[in-house]
Amino acid sequence: MDKIVIRGGAPLKGTVTISGSKNATLPIMAASILGNGSCTIHNVPDLVDIATMARIMERFGVKSERENHTLTIHPAKLTSWEAPYDLVRTMRASFLVLGPLLARLGKARVSLPGGCAIGPRPIDMHLKALEELGARIRVEKGYVEASARRLKGATVGLDIPTVTGTENIMMAACLAQGRTVIENAAREPEVVDLAEFLKKMGARISGEGSSVITIEGVKSLKRPVEHAVIPDRVEAGTFLIAAMITRSRLTLQGVSPECFGTVESKLKEAGARIEFHNNQCTIQGPRLVRAENITTSPYPGFPTDLQAQWMALMAVAGGTSTITETMFENRYMQAAELMRMGAQIKLRGQSAVIKGVPHLSGAKVMASDLRASAALILAGLVARGKTEIRRIYHLDRGYERIEEKLKALGARIERVKDR
Ligand code: EPU
Repeated sequence: MDKIVIRGGAPLKGTVTISGSKNATLPIMAASILGNGSCTIHNVPDLVDIATMARIMERFGVKSERENHTLTIHPAKLTSWEAPYDLVRTMRASFLVLGPLLARLGKARVSLPGGCAIGPRPIDMHLKALEELGARIRVEKGYVEASARRLKGATVGLDIPTVTGTENIMMAACLAQGRTVIENAAREPEVVDLAEFLKKMGARISGEGSSVITIEGVKSLKRPVEHAVIPDRVEAGTFLIAAMITRSRLTLQGVSPECFGTVESKLKEAGARIEFHNNQCTIQGPRLVRAENITTSPYPGFPTDLQAQWMALMAVAGGTSTITETMFENRYMQAAELMRMGAQIKLRGQSAVIKGVPHLSGAKVMASDLRASAALILAGLVARGKTEIRRIYHLDRGYERIEEKLKALGARIERVKDR
């Protein structure tokens, strides 16, 4: 297994290209099986999760090929409707195939994803909504079995604006009979990108990006599609925080201001100078980062996927700050590891209180999930001495060659074989 070794203290400088969004690509791949035309998807990041989704689709008889960052999917004929446990357990987002399989084939058997490192993460709202569209749902032997001759449009109100839930329902509704309205829908840019893709396939969707999405069902989606995935706003946010924590000047290539929601204003409050020019963003980190409180919330609020990285930043800020994590129950796994590096953090239920220290010190630490891994890398970039991060397979699920990108910016970082 590999580990990442960082010798902290090197300033960063230069331009980094932001990859396509993982969380936009995954539902778009799943959506391709709604139609029978070939789909050419550009700006697809080279990540383990993307490869996992391709393997799941292969089980349905859907072939895909990839050349650099372009993925071509051929969904003309589906030969199976089952997403098995051995694949779904490695990636929760596999559950996104439920809606499209059900809508296209009238049946689907998808393993329940189970819990994960950041909490139990139920999928009850996905199932309830599909039932409201007329699906018969049974949960048996760890699998969700869904069937419906043809789904029927309905008004579906979500208790929480679940991202993948909104996506699953929106995809299923594209082929339903009549109109579906999703109330309290997720407004994330990834949901909007999925709607754009579906509309290119021939779907009739409006309201995406607001909390009410309307879908007029059509009989079939036949058009071949070409689409470029939006930039990864979490990767972009991670590099912005890298500039802050190392007090550096960085330019991010391939981003748009809409990517950031409240992250931009929070960074500015913490002392960043940020400028946008076309699809570039330049950030200058301050000499001393100001302590700023954040509360995670759905888009456009502060994303839970940047909470761990923000904690690393606040660990070296000038003052005390509070983080309130409202999205997931168990998303402070990075805190104990940051504390091994000298961070002063107190956890109280949903909240973390972080007292900034003048410096962190390098240590051997363990990554627990994707975003926690990124937080440890950020801490390693400023820590005095050597930081070794183990269990970095989490990183490869969601950050495309992060160590190479950071190295090109001047970081002393390496991936080495861990014997
Ligand atoms: N929830 C329910 N019931 C449901 C669905 C969700 O109670 O049926 C709860 C969840 O337990 C959670 C909250 O609702 O407390 C919000 O979860 P949501 O469903 O929005 O999360 P998700 O769709 O499973 C996506 C991203 C996550 C990201 C969250 C929140 C993808 C593939 N995943 O997950 O990304 O943290 O939205 O923004 O889009 C990551 O990339 O590291 C990652 C975890």
